[in-house]
Amino acid sequence: MGRGVTNGMESTRIDEHRDAGSDTWVLDLAVAADVVVPGGCGIGRDAFVEWLWGTLGECGLAGIFEGAVDVEAAAATGLIDSPRVLDAAESPSDRDWVAAMAAATMSCWFADEPSARGAAARLVDVTGCDVLGLRRECGASDDAAWKGSFAAIAVPGFGTVHPAWEDGEPRTSARDAAIFIEPGAGFGTGLHETTQLCLAAIAAWAGQGGRLDRAVDFGSGSGILGIAAAVLGAARVDSIEIDPRVHDAIRANAARNGVADRLVVTGGWPLHVQPYDLVVANIVSDVLLRHAERLAAAVRRDPAGELAGVVVLSGLLDDDVSRVARVFTGLLGGAAAVTQRGDWRCLTFAASSGANHGETPCR
Ligand SMILES: C[S@@+](CC[C@H](N)C(=O)[O-])C[C@H]1O[C@@H](n2cnc3c(N)ncnc32)[C@H](O)[C@@H]1O
Repeated sequence: MGRGVTNGMESTRIDEHRDAGSDTWVLDLAVAADVVVPGGCGIGRDAFVEWLWGTLGECGLAGIFEGAVDVEAAAATGLIDSPRVLDAAESPSDRDWVAAMAAATMSCWFADEPSARGAAARLVDVTGCDVLGLRRECGASDDAAWKGSFAAIAVPGFGTVHPAWEDGEPRTSARDAAIFIEPGAGFGTGLHETTQLCLAAIAAWAGQGGRLDRAVDFGSGSGILGIAAAVLGAARVDSIEIDPRVHDAIRANAARNGVADRLVVTGGWPLHVQPYDLVVANIVSDVLLRHAERLAAAVRRDPAGELAGVVVLSGLLDDDVSRVARVFTGLLGGAAAVTQRGDWRCLTFAASSGANHGETPCR
């Protein structure tokens, strides 16, 4: 969810032909949106990628990295609202902006130089595809390098988020929790401020004795927030994520934390929603506002209709706060506590007996 990020990507890269530690040869391409697939096999990048696999897959093609795009340019041309949409916080169709760019770079990995040169020769005459160059990428296992770039993350007010491959068991203390998440399995490594604000709010609620039987994590990404709720005691978590490609990853993360039997992954709201003690959503403000009534209706109320659970909303910039707070205050009653980290803000609407951070009230 960072502003100022300059590149986005879609990756279809696979590594099954590669030995750990071996060199690879990378062919960089500029591919137009209307690239003409050889042999009359269609037009466009998706068809082109399919053709690449079909034609070169047996000839040493190990992977394709598809679509590094300048997001400032994408925003300037109106393809995305702003570079913030890069945040993967919107629904997949909305963020599939690589497909709409006039030109995008693509890199093809090969196990050896002759294969890469052979591929370059086949691509020379393809209309809409320019071969930018061939380079050697050496060395150490990508996997080891990738893993090496992740360390445990200390999250103030919550505890620690460890990479899934580290040894250890989750810690269930709201004062110093520990969970394990596979980075790269959807948004939500624990590094982003918006995620951290939610983790702290969940821990604060649990730490102050707020009821935490049932929770819903709307926009789960990696599943991190729902998993945190389950580790801190929730007996049932509905993990709602619109992107089906990460559903298995959420389940795997839940299993790594020993809460798979308490967490249900869905693509949308369950048919019969029972009231939740915790409703957490870390999504950009437009999505929060679109789903405001649903989110507000999902939280537990007392017999008098007063808020009895907690609603945590993150993914907000300063400009978003008053608009989102006004709408949710209207729906939930009471004031929001506002927490902040870096540019990001989080609103917590809590039953007065539960977690209220004692932060700035905001109506
Ligand atoms: C910013 S990420 C948050 C991930 C994680 N909860 C965290 O806090 O790190 C927002 C997630 O919401 C998902 N999402 C966006 N719109 C959604 C919708 N209408 N219903 C369910 N999920 C949605 C996105 O696919 C993305 O994975």
